[in-house]
Amino acid sequence: MFYTKEGKHRVTAKTFYLTTPIYYPSDKLHIGHAYTTVAADALARFKRHQGYDVMFLTGSDEHGQKIERIAREHGVAPIEYVDKIVAGIKQLWKTLDISYDDFIRTTEERHVKAVQTIFQRLYDHGDIYKAEYAGWYCVPCETFWTERQAGAGHVCPDCGRPVELVKEESYFFRLSKYADRWLKFIEENPDFIQPPSRKNEMVSFVKQGLEDLCVSRTTFDWGIPVPWDPKHVIYVWVDALSNYITALGYASADESKFQRYWPADLHLVGKEIVRFHTIIWPMMLMALDLPLPKKVFGHGWLVLEGGKMSKSKGNVVDPLVLVDKYGVDAVRYFLLREIPFGADGFYSEAALVKRINSDLANDLGNLLYRTLTMLEKYFDGRVPAPGPEEGPDAELKAVAQAAGADAEAAMDRLEISAALEAIWELVKRANKYIDEVAPWTLAREGKSERLATVMYNLAEALRTLAVMLVPYLTHTPGAVWRQLGLAGSPADAGWQAARRWGLLTPGVQTRRGAPLFPRIETVKAEKEERKQVSTEAAAPAAAEKISIDQFAQVQLKVAEVLAAERVPKSKKLIRLEIALGGERRQILAGIGRSYTPEELVGKKIVVVANLKPAKLMGYESNGMLLAASIPGEGEEESISVLTVDRDIASGARIR
Ligand code: MSP
Repeated sequence: MFYTKEGKHRVTAKTFYLTTPIYYPSDKLHIGHAYTTVAADALARFKRHQGYDVMFLTGSDEHGQKIERIAREHGVAPIEYVDKIVAGIKQLWKTLDISYDDFIRTTEERHVKAVQTIFQRLYDHGDIYKAEYAGWYCVPCETFWTERQAGAGHVCPDCGRPVELVKEESYFFRLSKYADRWLKFIEENPDFIQPPSRKNEMVSFVKQGLEDLCVSRTTFDWGIPVPWDPKHVIYVWVDALSNYITALGYASADESKFQRYWPADLHLVGKEIVRFHTIIWPMMLMALDLPLPKKVFGHGWLVLEGGKMSKSKGNVVDPLVLVDKYGVDAVRYFLLREIPFGADGFYSEAALVKRINSDLANDLGNLLYRTLTMLEKYFDGRVPAPGPEEGPDAELKAVAQAAGADAEAAMDRLEISAALEAIWELVKRANKYIDEVAPWTLAREGKSERLATVMYNLAEALRTLAVMLVPYLTHTPGAVWRQLGLAGSPADAGWQAARRWGLLTPGVQTRRGAPLFPRIETVKAEKEERKQVSTEAAAPAAAEKISIDQFAQVQLKVAEVLAAERVPKSKKLIRLEIALGGERRQILAGIGRSYTPEELVGKKIVVVANLKPAKLMGYESNGMLLAASIPGEGEEESISVLTVDRDIASGARIR
């Protein structure tokens, strides 16, 4: 085995380069930011566990008008301001056990110099020219918008805040030149943008026609100067996106990391910055004659009632407070398990507590506690040697093997929550196994050989679980391992150790410790839940006028259309895949004469979410979309699908 200079990685032929976005140090990071980075960390740990040589990059995006303004408001120099916030960001990642291999700050010299070289190369290549920019700019998003895009209200199409008029001499990047090459690339690499609904959005954006991109500013100076014309600073997104290669030493004296890791295997980003990562960044790389990253995955948002978590809405949740209250593994588990990766999902403390109590305290914690207590009672804490297989033993073993295989397959598809779900199949099966085989009865009846097999199997299930959980939880796997009395660590054992049953050596002396996750008392959360159940249980009465409670029984929700296609042999029916908060569903709608599937993708529609499922032309419809219709001549019915007029997160309740 070889180690790199830092002694951190095992050097193998297989590399995996993974990035998070680099964060604006404009304020303290909230749990929504932590979501991206915890997910990336789980992926990085998983790949390391599999034996890959992983390069996991994160960092801070420190230039631009937004940061300059905030620093001014605080009465300090921008660098002073960002230094302080970046220290806080690093502290947060430490608290959440983020195992990044490099943290790049865009104010570092290694980055600044390389960005200037990149800009010079784009210029020398004939892709940058000087002209005048006249248009709109959203400072919080650091995005240029045309008159048409900003609309009559002059607001940012992304965040809805007012845009500012900008008129200044600027350099432009020939984005339009690369549109055809980009479309061809996407056609040949259909998995480049994930999930597929985001790809469709990007393709239609490019097909609408691209204008060249303004890539320098002159009205403020907190940025990287254009090397040959230093009154211009380089547009902050061009500066920021370059971090993915500057951190590898691109355009520096030592390009060895760049040679080893580029192209990146995965850029993990939030959905609102997919456009920058899948259009501007690839086109910059094309102009630099560099290979494109293999995949960009745009995940959904963590939202609170009222919309995306953001400081301006005052609905931020501080991850440090949560870690302090519930522990790092509980917070990591919740973020990774609660929301199908890709969709938006609601955050609430009640949901977090529910997960801790059910999955961690009840399922996993109890499994360990029960097993170790019985081992102490029946075998003085020593793992006994197993005898012949009987009854549910084979099934427990099969579930353990399936859990490993399914978790691995889910991680390869970037479905992190599905991976945890697969692992919990084993946790649940092992608890059920205890109830089925009733070790206490075996002990009472003196069936010691059978009891030994059962206790071995339970300890072995826990050993495999410890290995499987390494990517997700950072304390629990080690704690399980130690309590089982095993030497080394489950991380050192490697992922394959989870895929083989029977590696536990009989005779090890277990050491029961404190319960992994104490139960959290939840009077309030339970009360709220009961309230919801009782409203749902009330039966509707037939009457001409309905009460507000009756109306409340119809759950209207905002849904995002992720994919749509015509139902074969039907003129009217379209099959839609929708996101409802953290949930994905299929619904059918008879709107095929008024809409094409393509124009529905990306729309935020209104659905009845609690309708009993129905089958239409062999497809199950799980809900119904709302649409206005005016009957026309013959088949000419005119239909208009209801949408929401602000970009509210899917899953939002309509009342
Ligand atoms: N600086 C840019 C990225 C440049 S990458 C070359 C940026 N920074 S950010 O700090 O605003 O956001 C960083 C990441 O946090 C983004 O991926 C964003 O989607 C994510 N999130 C911020 N709020 C979020 C939620 N409420 N939920 C999930 N992710 C969220 O954008």
